[in-house]
Amino acid sequence: MIEVERVSKTYRDGVGKGHVRALEDVSFQVSAGEVFGFLGPNGAGKSTAIKILLNLIRPNSGSATILGTEVKNPALRRKVGFLPENPFLYDYLSALELLWFGGRTAGMDRKAINKRGSELLERVDLQAVANRHLRTYSKGMVQRVGLALALIHDPQVVILDEPMSGLDPLGRKMVGDVIMELKSQGKTVFFSSHVLNDVERFCDRAAIIVDGRLRLVGAVAELLACGESLEDIFLREVQKAGGGQVV
Ligand SMILES: Nc1ncnc2c1ncn2[C@@H]1O[C@H](COP(=O)(O)OP(=O)(O)O)[C@@H](O)[C@H]1O
Ligand SMILES: [Mg+2]
Repeated sequence: MIEVERVSKTYRDGVGKGHVRALEDVSFQVSAGEVFGFLGPNGAGKSTAIKILLNLIRPNSGSATILGTEVKNPALRRKVGFLPENPFLYDYLSALELLWFGGRTAGMDRKAINKRGSELLERVDLQAVANRHLRTYSKGMVQRVGLALALIHDPQVVILDEPMSGLDPLGRKMVGDVIMELKSQGKTVFFSSHVLNDVERFCDRAAIIVDGRLRLVGAVAELLACGESLEDIFLREVQKAGGGQVV
């Protein structure tokens, strides 16, 4: 479903000729119907990998495919849903208008958008504020409408960059429930997080990335079967890597 093969990415650091190596020779696969957690401390390279999957940036080397199609193929947009780390939404649209915009972009007709849009707004608990301008939304509300936008076209593959961040416990539970519903519908979900608990609870498989390098990939059940908690495994990998990079 998702295949990342030997991807490396270096950014210019904006100061002189310095470079930041954000990803180094990263490879992993996510199978159909799987919930896959991409776990790593701040600055590990999670968002960079996700942006590569969405073709928002290009890797320096390596390749990435989704549903067997190279990520640069625009046909994927209709099959992939995406929640960015800090959703940038149009301030003067309402939630309904935003979903309308997203649905049209994905080629949906009026009836389908209205039906799915109101279902989703209800699901993320925004029905009551659906007509308010997005600029009046709190961070948590923006995150929720961003999730609805990611799902408006009923995508087969859903990629979420830190979907629980900025949410209160109820919001986190709602996102977790939505992920499990997607799984039960046979969708493939890839999400990043630095919260171990989220990964432990919702994921079939997980990868741990530190400092741009993949340290571990495996079935969560197998990782936990060694008797160590995911937190212990995570901390050990971060320490082995020299403490990670705090940004
Ligand atoms: N546009 C950019 N220009 C320069 N450096 C960047 C840019 N985006 C990310 N980085 C750097 O790349 C590394 C990985 O960042 P990122 O992928 O955002 O990590 P994460 O999402 O895991 O917190 C960090 O060191 C970060 O500072
Ligand atoms: Mg990030």
